[in-house]
Amino acid sequence: MKNKFYITTPIYYANGSPHLGHAYTTVAADVLARFHHREGKKVFLSTGMDEHGAKIQKTAEKAGKNPQEFVDGICGEFKELFSRLNIKYDGFIRTTDKNHIKAVQNALQSLFDKGVIYKGVYKGLYCVGCEQFLMESQLIDGKCPDHNIKPEMCEEESYLLKMEEIKNQLIKKIEKDEFEISPLKRKNEALSFLSGQDLQDVAISRDKKKVSWGVGLPFDGKHIAYVWVDAFLNYLTVLGWDGSVENIPDFFPPDIQLVGKDILRVHFTIWPAILLHLEIDLPKEIFAHGMIISGGKKMSKTLGNVVSPNEMIDKFGVDATRYLLMTAGRFSNDVDIAIERMIKKYNAELVNGIGNASARVTKMAEGICFSGKNAKEIIVPENIRKEIFENCLAAVDFQKEDFRDIVSFLAEKGKDFLKIKKDFTIYIDFVIRIQWLVDKMIAKEEPWKFEPKDKEPFILNCLEAIRIMAQMLYPFMPDTAEKIFEKLGLDAKAELSKTFDDAVEWGSVEFKNVCKGESLFPRIK
Ligand code: MSP
Repeated sequence: MKNKFYITTPIYYANGSPHLGHAYTTVAADVLARFHHREGKKVFLSTGMDEHGAKIQKTAEKAGKNPQEFVDGICGEFKELFSRLNIKYDGFIRTTDKNHIKAVQNALQSLFDKGVIYKGVYKGLYCVGCEQFLMESQLIDGKCPDHNIKPEMCEEESYLLKMEEIKNQLIKKIEKDEFEISPLKRKNEALSFLSGQDLQDVAISRDKKKVSWGVGLPFDGKHIAYVWVDAFLNYLTVLGWDGSVENIPDFFPPDIQLVGKDILRVHFTIWPAILLHLEIDLPKEIFAHGMIISGGKKMSKTLGNVVSPNEMIDKFGVDATRYLLMTAGRFSNDVDIAIERMIKKYNAELVNGIGNASARVTKMAEGICFSGKNAKEIIVPENIRKEIFENCLAAVDFQKEDFRDIVSFLAEKGKDFLKIKKDFTIYIDFVIRIQWLVDKMIAKEEPWKFEPKDKEPFILNCLEAIRIMAQMLYPFMPDTAEKIFEKLGLDAKAELSKTFDDAVEWGSVEFKNVCKGESLFPRIK
């Protein structure tokens, strides 16, 4: 399929209620999906639940429920949260779906028939929190650093997937960015991991006597599929795949797969190994983001230091929660979520920044009917340009003086950062600079002192800047963008049906019924 954009989130373990870490990956995926949709692409965003395995079996037992009943409840909570967060997914997979199970069995049978799965004995240290065998070198004081528990020594009969024979292929594809691991530091880590040692064959099954909650192996009734193998295939089954290599869905391979850095390694080893053995194209890119930290440790249900996304939504509203999450820090780094800092940022950037600038400009424009004729060059003085571009990554060779050129430049550059680098914070930084430009020019020009013939072209430029700012905010804050269009007297649907390139074009609309209306963001004490 041409001009498509298939983006995936990992599927979430159904062993407890969703926390901010889960909201983080999913909101990021939704922002990128909405952005690429506005780039004129056919978009598919997939997400879902990882519902099998030892961890869930144990948690359900503790809760005194059967596992299916247990995961049904948790799945409901995730769906409710995603709907509250305004996540527009196109596919939601559950690994307990019948079609998924059937497809996993078909795929495993193909691997077995090809002779790349064989029966053996696997011995290793298993962390139930990770649902992974860990190496000694990964442990701190004998414990898994992510889950703070001692892994169990397991030795059991198991089916193994051959790894060594795909290793060189994999390294080459990563080196050439055919299978891109990003950001760059993660690619380097992946390459040094893969080339630094022999790749051990991977256990792809568990003994049913030890773990029974999973997909039965079609070729041996005593085993179930290892939960990660079951889970990886969701990236195909969510598109309706039946498990046969002849019927690869049109949207496959993914254009980008978002994962937390904690689950990157399995995504550049086991996942591509399955695909290479099945002769299915690899994803184009896997992007590993940082962790949300709380109290100095990765936020996790197993550690019990979670912040509830619902509480954050209750406090800030949906759009501000999306915004605050995505701009809390660089996507590729770890970010500490401290509520005090969130409140400050909310008041500074949303209440005093975007909200206030929209209100000022729309207030000035109330009752005036603008047309393209009012358009006029507005020169931005050098001191303001300097302030706007201070510490700005893109300003090095920027010379333009005209207000509209500066806005277009900021929009264009911001877009590149989101599209190419998946850099949410820099993108928003450019949006905020548009808002600064508006504020600083109003403060300098004091347009209320102008004659109408001079005032109107000035206000028109500001209106355009606010409209473009709303267009840029849309992927992060869809409802806020719509509200701004309404204030500007524009048809929100029409604005949102434009491609991004058309949408940021200067002078493409007329402003007739501008109305300040209610404030966008109430102040929080
Ligand atoms: N079920 C596996 C993924 C299988 S995908 C084939 C899993 N589930 S998870 O629920 O533990 O994590 C899902 C995603 O949420 C991962 O990308 C993980 O990095 C992310 N997060 C979980 N806790 C997180 C934070 N504290 N911070 C940021 N993201 C985190 O792994």
